[in-house]
Amino acid sequence: MTEASKTERKSVEPKEKLIVALDVETATEARNIVDEIGAEVGAFKIGLQLFTSAGASFVRETAEKGFRVFLDVKFHDIPNTVARASVEVARLGVWMFNVHASGGGEMMQRTAEAVSEFCEKENLAKPKIIAVTVLTSSDEETLREIGVERAVGEQVVNLARLAAKYGMDGVVASPQETPLIRREIEKTDFLIVTPGIRPEFATNDDQKRVMTPKQAVASGADFLVVGRPILQAKDRLTAVKKVLGEM
Ligand code: C5P
Repeated sequence: MTEASKTERKSVEPKEKLIVALDVETATEARNIVDEIGAEVGAFKIGLQLFTSAGASFVRETAEKGFRVFLDVKFHDIPNTVARASVEVARLGVWMFNVHASGGGEMMQRTAEAVSEFCEKENLAKPKIIAVTVLTSSDEETLREIGVERAVGEQVVNLARLAAKYGMDGVVASPQETPLIRREIEKTDFLIVTPGIRPEFATNDDQKRVMTPKQAVASGADFLVVGRPILQAKDRLTAVKKVLGEM
């Protein structure tokens, strides 16, 4: 990484880097959280639970209110299906969404092209497309089960390279993998989004390999996804401010 890109990464306001995971059951709960802390965070992540319960209309509503939405739907299907579904995601006005890099180069390339073409035609900002490499719930045994003989770290780098080559804007990675990806991927503006963040004031919940916000930023992450330490705090706004302070 060049000195210039290091400086660039650091110069972004902490608030812009913080993505809060809206891991709740209903649109009503999510709406309350958005209203409560929206002004102090960079983006909200809508994952499979809330997307399935509250639907595309909640995504559109949140984006139309002016909040950045990261739609964490992890698409993995044939190239044509993922490309077409991704165009619909772009139509909702999201800021970021993701696909599985293990869907392959053609799937990622066709998706990137279809989304770019659509956004250009409709005069929309192109969402950032992020690839999932190896889920942090997977270990070497999981990889063996599906016929992958590489070590986890090697497979992460392999898929991150594929994602960079086929038009993805970045990857989701655990904080532990961030330095490895920064070292191995030459594209200096390649984005790294990291969950598994635990501020100094919080417990680890079920996350095993965690880093503090400060460590995650120092390791080269561009965006930090934080869920429970903020969602379950008695005073969410104070929790957000503490996380920003730690960054
Ligand atoms: O509550 P917590 O801060 O652990 O939430 C982290 C968010 O990031 C959750 O939405 C979780 O699904 C997601 N995530 C994760 N680990 C990954 C990928 C996504 O914790 N490897």
